[in-house]
Amino acid sequence: MSTKRPLIFNPGPAALPLPALERTRDELLDFEGTGMSVLEVSHRAPAYEKVHREAMALVRELLAVPESHAVLFMAGGARTQFALVPTNLLGEGTHGAYAVTGHWSKCALKEASFVGEARVSVDVEADGTFVRVPDPAEVAVDAGAAYLHLTSNNTLYGTQWHAYPEVDAPLVADMTSDLLSRKLDVGRFGLIYAAAQKNLGPAGVTVVVVDRALVEGARTDIPAAFRYASFLAKDSLWNTPPTFAIHVLRNTLAYLADRGGVEALEATNRAKAARVYAAVASRPDLFTLPAEEGSRSLCNVVFRGVEDGVEARLLAEAEARGMVGLKGHRTVGGLRASLYNGVEAAWVEALAELIEGF
Ligand SMILES: Cc1ncc(COP(=O)(O)O)c(C=O)c1O
Repeated sequence: MSTKRPLIFNPGPAALPLPALERTRDELLDFEGTGMSVLEVSHRAPAYEKVHREAMALVRELLAVPESHAVLFMAGGARTQFALVPTNLLGEGTHGAYAVTGHWSKCALKEASFVGEARVSVDVEADGTFVRVPDPAEVAVDAGAAYLHLTSNNTLYGTQWHAYPEVDAPLVADMTSDLLSRKLDVGRFGLIYAAAQKNLGPAGVTVVVVDRALVEGARTDIPAAFRYASFLAKDSLWNTPPTFAIHVLRNTLAYLADRGGVEALEATNRAKAARVYAAVASRPDLFTLPAEEGSRSLCNVVFRGVEDGVEARLLAEAEARGMVGLKGHRTVGGLRASLYNGVEAAWVEALAELIEGF
């Protein structure tokens, strides 16, 4: 490569493993011996279908998806799922229950209210601007809840659920910023969705893992393009899928599987997060960690300067060392290191050393 690759801490779209990018480059002009680019072949062509099915099989294998659940590839990002979940699952006399733990769960709640009845199950904003997730025992749903929606990792605030509630309704989870970062019991969830651009692959494809029974009971009086059932019936080849995004997803997942799958990813991710939290905690003279200890995220480490100017100075020094993406979300401020699967341990070490020696 002609330019030096930065140390990428972007919150999403985020760093992808270099070998997956190199494979994508090598395959770009001659896709599976067709002489064409994957960007040019039909989604009905056997060469594309092979990649599509490989990508699905990799999601199943890496997440240990049980037979009861289907894997779907959809377009439209996570925000589209905010609308599709209630559109498919809310029926007469039912409501969606929402655990409000940050910006994205607030957005999901709002979108659901355009479709039907959305009720707040639990809201932790008042406890200090989203510094924690609820204890599972705090979460309850009213009779008539079609599902309980939660955001497993709050990307902006750096908080993450480490245990999930048991309620009398299917769990629906936005796992956009932590799917495949750690082991997961998929069978506990009715529906999981994750836009791919953080831990899984590129922007453009959203992975949905859904209990087939939930799809069977979903509404049929909605447009076909909005129905999970349309995608399930045709293995997500109901209409033209985002073929290039799925191709890059396949390449990323194949690489992550080769690296040892989810156990290995979790071990690496835990070590990366521990390293950054420890470095920040070693400098109480300069930084604070707003998220409560039991709620801290493995994927997004959020920290703040104790006085004016500290954050800007750290960002300038980080930039000088080739690090990008460390500025906190515009609505939250502060600093944030996103440590997704594509973020290398050596980059994390460099960041930790910068913080410790600052
Ligand atoms: C947890 C979570 N949900 C939803 C979104 C929105 O995703 P999209 O831009 O794909 O709609 C994001 C984006 O950062 C996110 O982190």
